[in-house]
Amino acid sequence: MRVTTSDIRKMKAEGKRFAALTAYDAVTAKILDDVGIPLLLVGDSLGMVVLGYENTIPVTLDDILYHTRAVARGSHRALIVADMPFMTYQRSIDQALENAGRCIQEGGAQAVKLEGGRVMAETITRLVAVGIPVLGHIGLTPQSVHQLGGFKVQGKTLEAARRLVDDAHAVESSGAFAIVLECIPAEIARLITERLAIPTLGIGAGPFCDAEIQVSSDVLGWLSDFTPKHTRPYAKLAETAASAFRQFQDDVATRSFPTEKESFSVSGDIVAKLQKELASTS
Ligand code: KIV
Repeated sequence: MRVTTSDIRKMKAEGKRFAALTAYDAVTAKILDDVGIPLLLVGDSLGMVVLGYENTIPVTLDDILYHTRAVARGSHRALIVADMPFMTYQRSIDQALENAGRCIQEGGAQAVKLEGGRVMAETITRLVAVGIPVLGHIGLTPQSVHQLGGFKVQGKTLEAARRLVDDAHAVESSGAFAIVLECIPAEIARLITERLAIPTLGIGAGPFCDAEIQVSSDVLGWLSDFTPKHTRPYAKLAETAASAFRQFQDDVATRSFPTEKESFSVSGDIVAKLQKELASTS
């Protein structure tokens, strides 16, 4: 049985802190499922950590649908949340309904995530009303990177912190089952977490949230060029991969791969007959 949004809400009620991670492919989704991660986000971060874009803006609905289908094939237990890309839900409530519907129907997700607080309240209300669970997302909302002037910590002034609290309440009142708090001061995340009944999933929001969500590639040390302050690499996969590829390259150059062990063979009799045939025709 898959984890449901009610299970996620219940974890807060029962004081159970949990970890959530992004997934973009079936193989990773299976590993995360086996580990018991209850919520997999097919994040639009895929633009940056898989597709090589500078930010999440170029990610399309087709990208998210493609990767959500892969995650759905690999995972049978976790709740799968599809991240709605830039301008696939902001234009109108109808647009949001249509595209969120596609994430559920064609992608195989059980919920969608969208960025924005009060400005998205009506949209969240409508999605929830038609049966599409929503994960909210406030604080540093990467789809607004140009408006925010970069990937900056949000809520550092009294006014900005007040706005965050209001946004969090608006997302909860609209019916979201949980909310992501990205890159905000730990003290503000704590105040929000204490005031909401729905779980807060922090990323760069300190230790007081109900859950922590991270980008899998950061946890794995898969991207060698940049480690954001709010992440902790639990492995050095980029180094491991580079060393494996280097060794493979050397082994091929020096003829130590492939050897007999990695080869297939046929009986000497067949080879001898073939050689004879080839000699007679040349
Ligand atoms: O796209 C993403 O991976 C996200 C997480 C950072 C929460 O939105």
